[in-house]
Amino acid sequence: MKKLIFANLKMYQNTKKEIDNYLNELNSEKLNFIAIPPIIYLDRFIQRGFTCGVQNISVYEEGAHTGETSVLSIKDMGCKYVLVGHSEIRNNETDKMINIKIKIILKNNLIPILCIGESLEAYNQKQTKEILKKQIQNALKDTNEKVIISYEPVWAIGTGKTPTNEEIIDIINYIKSLFNYDITVLYGGSVSLENIETLNKTNNVNGFLIGKAATNPSSLKKIIEVARM
Ligand code: 13P
Repeated sequence: MKKLIFANLKMYQNTKKEIDNYLNELNSEKLNFIAIPPIIYLDRFIQRGFTCGVQNISVYEEGAHTGETSVLSIKDMGCKYVLVGHSEIRNNETDKMINIKIKIILKNNLIPILCIGESLEAYNQKQTKEILKKQIQNALKDTNEKVIISYEPVWAIGTGKTPTNEEIIDIINYIKSLFNYDITVLYGGSVSLENIETLNKTNNVNGFLIGKAATNPSSLKKIIEVARM
């Protein structure tokens, strides 16, 4: 199965020069991936013709909310996807906020990518499925439109560790069984040049959400090559 590739560039590149070098290296080829850059550089990516997402949006659509970014402005800029509930943000938000964000993203006809994942402690105590189910139920309460799910074990993000393929396949099957439509489910957490060939053998995974490795253009190109074979 050809897999989708999403590049969550987090806050790794913080100058125009770095971003322009990155774009110049990628631009020469028609690469099939979705860029999720630091929001301040979103327009640079869109101007170069990249399909884009953002890493977060405000729980409010408009008004007196200093420092926030509205779903309305990112939609107006031509952005298509929004990450919601990423573990690097979840500590600062409630399930209710995640649910509101999902609803305003859907209302504005953008696609939410709901990030879910268990802590190392929960993984060790074999509570993964229970936790994922709760995260999904809370986030999608009173919604019935399609979303994308990204399974990202917290202990696998930025650590170089990943679950085994058997574990990933089992969890993805479980997540899919909770939906009454053919849901797109991504895997994220330490996807790299070194492990992409192995991870790509997980046949029920629809794609990957890549962090650090995506900031290196040559790694990203090779990962895309493998994932799209
Ligand atoms: P890493 O690929 O750096 O582990 O990050 C994964 C991630 O958080 C994707 O959203």
